[in-house]
Amino acid sequence: MFGQKMQAIVLAAGKSSRFQTGKSKLVETICGQEMILFSTNLFSILNIPTTVVLGYQKEQIQEIINKKHGGAVNFIQQQEQHGTGHAVACTQKKWDKEHILIMNGDMPLVTKDIIMDLYKKHIEQDAVISFVTSCYTGSNHSYGRVVEDGKTIEIIEAKEFHGQQTEACTINAGIYLIKKEFLQDSINEIEKSKVTKEFYLTDLVKIASDQELTICTVNAPFDQIRGINNLQELWAAEQVKRAELIKHWMEKGVRFGIAHTVHLDLDIEVGQGSNIGCAVHINKGTRIGKNCIIEQNSIIENSILENEVTVYPNSIINDAYISSGASIGPFAYIRENTIVKEQAQVGNFVEVKNTILGSHSKAKHLSYLGNTTIGKNTNIGAGTITCNFNGVSKNKTIIEDNVFIGSNNTIVAPVIIKEDSFTAAGSTITENVPKQALAICRTRQINKENYGPKLKKRYQEENNHKESFVAAEKVKETSNTELL
Ligand code: UD1
Ligand code: CA
Repeated sequence: MFGQKMQAIVLAAGKSSRFQTGKSKLVETICGQEMILFSTNLFSILNIPTTVVLGYQKEQIQEIINKKHGGAVNFIQQQEQHGTGHAVACTQKKWDKEHILIMNGDMPLVTKDIIMDLYKKHIEQDAVISFVTSCYTGSNHSYGRVVEDGKTIEIIEAKEFHGQQTEACTINAGIYLIKKEFLQDSINEIEKSKVTKEFYLTDLVKIASDQELTICTVNAPFDQIRGINNLQELWAAEQVKRAELIKHWMEKGVRFGIAHTVHLDLDIEVGQGSNIGCAVHINKGTRIGKNCIIEQNSIIENSILENEVTVYPNSIINDAYISSGASIGPFAYIRENTIVKEQAQVGNFVEVKNTILGSHSKAKHLSYLGNTTIGKNTNIGAGTITCNFNGVSKNKTIIEDNVFIGSNNTIVAPVIIKEDSFTAAGSTITENVPKQALAICRTRQINKENYGPKLKKRYQEENNHKESFVAAEKVKETSNTELL
């Protein structure tokens, strides 16, 4: 089985100082997944036992890994961060396999093909150290340069490389496969850099080269070995990943109207024939069925949409279940524990939380439905509010099948509105409504006859009084001035 003779060490103790966020870069997400999990997942797929070196913000990183892998990943602490060579030296007592695979923790786009290729060539050539390289692109000058002169090979760190930028056109990716014996013999030979006072793992290449031992290199596309040292590189890597995901779903028959504006997380599914509009976000835990339409600016997270669901623009759906043929929005907000059943409709400016909306039922305009169970074929009028919170506790509203709730109702829970009943527009419902009844709860209308002319007359009288008052004041003012 692949991975049997290997163990992996992931370097994740660094301070992420170039990030300037105050957080370890390894907890930042790329397409919804924390950066550190890209490497631990990769090694778990390849059955390579893994140790992660932690230091800066170790608790946060450890928690993320344990949540994903249970106790399957080991940890070693690097108390103070003195460079990648020092980080590997801290793991010495954990080395028990023939070959030690070492990878920087900040390389989320590495594929399993790269690791398999590295292992194959390392074994074929019986190398003591093998490492992955890539091409200098003109913009990746912060990477270590691989400098060869016929017989010798070494990695010179960017800060210490004083040659022409175009001179050594191969860069070091940050993935190494090393024979355990060689690592044991040479890890303590690494000397502190005079420039940064750090111990560079990359110096092992020169140590092996000076002893004329076999060194093997494997080239990989730059996009797959991108290291993330700052927010710009994080953004660039996420673009690469996102493009990969969009291509994947396009190949499965999903149409993206304006693909470069769409954000997809890793842990999602989208069914064949679905159409995703401009600037839609499909976040982790979401499963979208076949032939769904998700229109622009909608955000869906941790939700299930069955087949043929339509989400109109600017809607938000979180932790909800939307059944076949239902429609949501525009401008709807569907929140946790909501189930919208078959063919039901939630319209504009409707917020729904902790609620079941039965099949073929509709709440089409300006409503809040919370802690409510609504049966089938029920119509919720515009402006309906279920008052589920009394300031202390949440209470439940039950509206059964075939009910007609008039516009602008406030329904004060706990309350049950039985099947086939009606409530009149503008009602405040505080008591249960029996089957087939009409509930009206509002003050009766009074018409005051001839009100308009009476109002006009009163206004004119008041105005005349005011005018004569102003005139009198003016006379007073002039006579006062005359007195002066
Ligand atoms: C490193 C390589 C460089 C290579 C580049 C590829 C060294 C000296 N240089 O540079 O040749 O081109 O990766 O991306 O290795 N870390 C620790 N403890 C430490 C320092 C770092 O665990 O004391 C961890 C970091 O958390 C990070 C990884 O090691 O995940 C690499 O460190 P980083 O500072 O990013 O190295 P680079 O400067 O990118
Ligand atoms: Ca790096």
